[in-house]
Amino acid sequence: MTAEIIDGKAFAERLQAGIARGVAALKASRGIVPGLAAVLVGDNPASQVYVRNKTRQIEAAGMAGFKHDLPATTSTRTLLDLVQRLNADDAVDGILVQLPLPRGIDVEAIFDAVDPAKDVDGFHYVNAGKLAIGRDALTPCTPMGCAMLLRDRLKNLAGLSAVVLGRSNIVGKPMAQLLLRADCTVTIAHSKTRDLPAVCRGADILIAAVGRPEMVRGDWIKPGATVIDVGINRVPAADGKTRLIGDVAFAEARDVAGAITPVPGGVGPMTIACLLHNTLVACCRRRGIPLPAI
Ligand code: GUN
Repeated sequence: MTAEIIDGKAFAERLQAGIARGVAALKASRGIVPGLAAVLVGDNPASQVYVRNKTRQIEAAGMAGFKHDLPATTSTRTLLDLVQRLNADDAVDGILVQLPLPRGIDVEAIFDAVDPAKDVDGFHYVNAGKLAIGRDALTPCTPMGCAMLLRDRLKNLAGLSAVVLGRSNIVGKPMAQLLLRADCTVTIAHSKTRDLPAVCRGADILIAAVGRPEMVRGDWIKPGATVIDVGINRVPAADGKTRLIGDVAFAEARDVAGAITPVPGGVGPMTIACLLHNTLVACCRRRGIPLPAI
């Protein structure tokens, strides 16, 4: 079997075009421009690229992007003050504090301080709790993007066996909640799971979010399964440069799976599109107005 390649880039472009139409309608009908504040602390090169891409796409969709660049020496107190100013700023509908933060900053204190109504990352415990009990939450962007790709391909996920590899608060746990909400039978597997390959082989849906290059081999995959690769691992390439690979050994998996997301061009673009989506949702919910059609 040769797997269908799930084109996350094309899906994300369609979603972003819809969001841009929704933003334009909001501006025309009510004069509102949704705004995202992106906070980058320190000089992590990958984070710089991510934040630049996020603010670029926000602006391309017609929203306002406010970029805050702070030095690596920033204290927790200074960062908390900024978050509180952004909470109080009515032009800001979404607040994104890029991870990882430099050592020495109290990450929990920062994320607890973000107004849950502006928490477009969905990392605040209020949003995590709402997601867990099935209430309307701002949902973490990467799992939301994965769920959209799954729904697009499989339509009805009810009764399917889903294995989520990885138990992070950012991807693994919220991903499991979304799959449960879609009536899957969900297993969260992790570094202490016994016989990981056998657990994965039971999955109709396999989500790999471990951050270990090509850890999932072809013979870990049930024939015909849908495989979502969340990994973005930068590794040395033959030409002396670097290249991006996922958590799944793509060439092996493609021969077994029914469908698979590539890296790059799979989940990555969906994460940004979902950030735009959450910013528009936060803007409308905060003001008590309906979400425009997207
Ligand atoms: N670092 C890696 N992924 C993310 C993300 O989705 N949000 C934030 N804030 N930081 C990240």
